[in-house]
Amino acid sequence: MEQTIKAAPEPLLEIKNLKTYFFLERATVKAVNGVNLTLGRQSTLGVVGESGCGKSVTAHSIMRLIKEPPGKIVEGEMLLHQDDGKIVDLAKLNPRGQQIRSIRGGQIAMIFQEPMTSLNPLHTVGDQIAEVVMLHQDVTKKGALERAEEMLDRVHISAPGQRLHEYPHQLSGGMRQRVMIALALSCNPKILVADEPTTALDVTVQAQILELMRELQQEFDSSIMLITHNLGVVSQMADQIAVMYLGKVVEFADARTLFHNPKHPYTEGLLKSVPVLGRKTKTLIPIRGMVPNATDDIQGCAFADRCPHRMQICNEQMPELKLMDGNGHLVACWLHE
Ligand SMILES: Nc1ncnc2c1ncn2[C@@H]1O[C@H](COP(=O)(O)OP(=O)(O)OP(=O)(O)O)[C@@H](O)[C@H]1O
Ligand SMILES: [Mg+2]
Repeated sequence: MEQTIKAAPEPLLEIKNLKTYFFLERATVKAVNGVNLTLGRQSTLGVVGESGCGKSVTAHSIMRLIKEPPGKIVEGEMLLHQDDGKIVDLAKLNPRGQQIRSIRGGQIAMIFQEPMTSLNPLHTVGDQIAEVVMLHQDVTKKGALERAEEMLDRVHISAPGQRLHEYPHQLSGGMRQRVMIALALSCNPKILVADEPTTALDVTVQAQILELMRELQQEFDSSIMLITHNLGVVSQMADQIAVMYLGKVVEFADARTLFHNPKHPYTEGLLKSVPVLGRKTKTLIPIRGMVPNATDDIQGCAFADRCPHRMQICNEQMPELKLMDGNGHLVACWLHE
């Protein structure tokens, strides 16, 4: 499973120091607490990390779907490099305004972690796709339904003309996931944010969906931000990988470097704790300890308590993401200062 190291692609979406908090009565949840990452043109970025580390909140922040209150983007930039050369900071847009509504679904589309939250049980599959198409393109209902049928065909749903008239509950899990992909890609978005697109599916269907995403990415020249806690999935799909820990990116590298030369002890721990295709692992070693609470104020490195290499400074100061080499390998760890 050799991959060649590709030159870092041109940036399409740059997230800088993104902070998204939830202001609850009893505490503030710092769900995303200074995320930095870059999604390149025509590439797939894998975002991995344990449950609760802020992957979905990052995705919802990009889409500006964080419910306010209690949520709020309190700091940071999300720079979308548009085809006309203009750069839009998604963090600055009015979440209910016209501009984000035309970007959402048009330039950036998302596949949600729970398919049934984004598919409306009361409307047919065809009507739902057609509605999105009509929102973004100047077409008639008839034209939009034709586009919907074409998209169902593209995601390999058989008898698409018939399926158009069915409701989400009439479809299997794998088929619903395909419908979500059809819906997301119906307006040919530059960026597809896929939040655990295959977690609920059995292994065979999972492989089909991933293959389909790869195929469509090539055809549509789009970029994918693939969120998953499944390292096997990212190893098959991603060009670059961002490893998140408690609301931050702690390591960022091209996939090959990350798998063969991880620098952050958390990344090393992750790789040792799960079997990964094509990687020799003798025994699986779970990472000891627990992720701290996202409500705690942590002074030093958030991983320090669990880290086998902890030093004095790790308890005192938070390490920043630093460049390791000329290939864009970034690590936030005092071991590599
Ligand atoms: N609406 C909300 N109100 C309060 N806290 C929230 C809300 N949404 C998310 N959080 C908290 O933010 C943190 C990050 O959640 P997030 O859903 O982004 O995790 P995740 O990395 O996607 O995890 P998983 O792998 O389980 O999907 C968690 O501590 C979660 O409890
Ligand atoms: Mg999630």
